[in-house]
Amino acid sequence: MTSALPRYDAINLAGKAILMRVDFNIPPDAHGNLADTYRLEAHLPGIKELLAKGARLGLLTHRGRPQGDVVPHLSTKPLAEELSRQLGQAVHHVPDCIGRMAEQAMAELPPGQVLLFENTRFHLGEQVNDAAFVRHLAKLGEVFVNDAFAAAHRPHASMSGLAATMPTSVLGPLMLRELDWLQTLQADAPRPLSCIIGGTQVAAKLDLIAALMTRVDTLMLAGAVAHTFLASRDMGLGRSLLDPGSVERARDIFAEAGVVGCRLLLPQDFTVQNKQDGTVTAKPFNKLSGDDMAMDIGPQTCETWRQVIGKSARSFWLGSVGNFEHSPFDTGCRTVAEGLLAAEGFTLAAGDGLLKALKPDAMRTRLPHVSSGAAVWLHALAGKPLPALQVLRR
Ligand code: 3PG
Repeated sequence: MTSALPRYDAINLAGKAILMRVDFNIPPDAHGNLADTYRLEAHLPGIKELLAKGARLGLLTHRGRPQGDVVPHLSTKPLAEELSRQLGQAVHHVPDCIGRMAEQAMAELPPGQVLLFENTRFHLGEQVNDAAFVRHLAKLGEVFVNDAFAAAHRPHASMSGLAATMPTSVLGPLMLRELDWLQTLQADAPRPLSCIIGGTQVAAKLDLIAALMTRVDTLMLAGAVAHTFLASRDMGLGRSLLDPGSVERARDIFAEAGVVGCRLLLPQDFTVQNKQDGTVTAKPFNKLSGDDMAMDIGPQTCETWRQVIGKSARSFWLGSVGNFEHSPFDTGCRTVAEGLLAAEGFTLAAGDGLLKALKPDAMRTRLPHVSSGAAVWLHALAGKPLPALQVLRR
């Protein structure tokens, strides 16, 4: 997939004004601090490499969805501070991403130095890919490096707009690495291939499941996605989370899975909490009472899934399993992570929730492939094009 696309390492970057699109879309937590910096860390090796090559590096990113308004708590200033801390060098923050001040900051930037512009989405032109806004952005650099895999499904000004406008547009190191992983899962490589799908966003996950069924041998479903499938088989799930609007679709997908020969593995048991008296027990999937809420996959399911992952040539995990923020409902997440760590094949994990779940004991740094963009995986694996790449293929 990536061999036909222009790459950052095929051109000389030394001394050039490089405009690099990154995805530092890290929300503020309840105290206004950065919630989790894994997205910034994913870009660090690439940023270091470009600086070592003598690039004059200007970084563009969006943060949140301010819809063209200047929303102070979505400023990129704290991101510049964090990047500076992690890089061990000054990162100048430029309080706008277009205009004289931005152009001057780039013009004065020495080789090997980096700056971060203010949130691109503080301008309405970003999300509507406005031509005049793109032209302003394009004045900032000589070469455009798109490294924002996590936003590759967005046809926005600082993504596909710049790629279509700048005289030289290439893909950056993180983008290329993630696209290689994507190819690994799309190619006809070793089988069996297994996917674990959890988290919320049931309707979007059903699109993904429908698209994956012809390519994957086993799909293990957890959380609200699994509950919705069980509801489509008329199972009583008490107070468990599910999406009533997706039940019919889940029923159709179940029937299709049988036709194409994909094994849909739903939880055999759950760890449930009774919402009346608070008691926590493991129960078979068909024995939940009206006050029970499924909080995690149960012990039998953990064991089955561990075995399936162990026998798979490749595995892919998207979306958290269980209500991992509250012990003891983190067992499912930990079991899947341990299974992937012990597996020999290609294993990839994506999703804000599950990466958060894997943070405390550094599991996520031990997993071989941790993606920065779960939404892009959903989009691409469901067979939808990535606009940032389409522009470059023309
Ligand atoms: C993401 O967090 O999925 C990307 O940064 C894209 O953000 P968006 O969904 O607000 O466009």
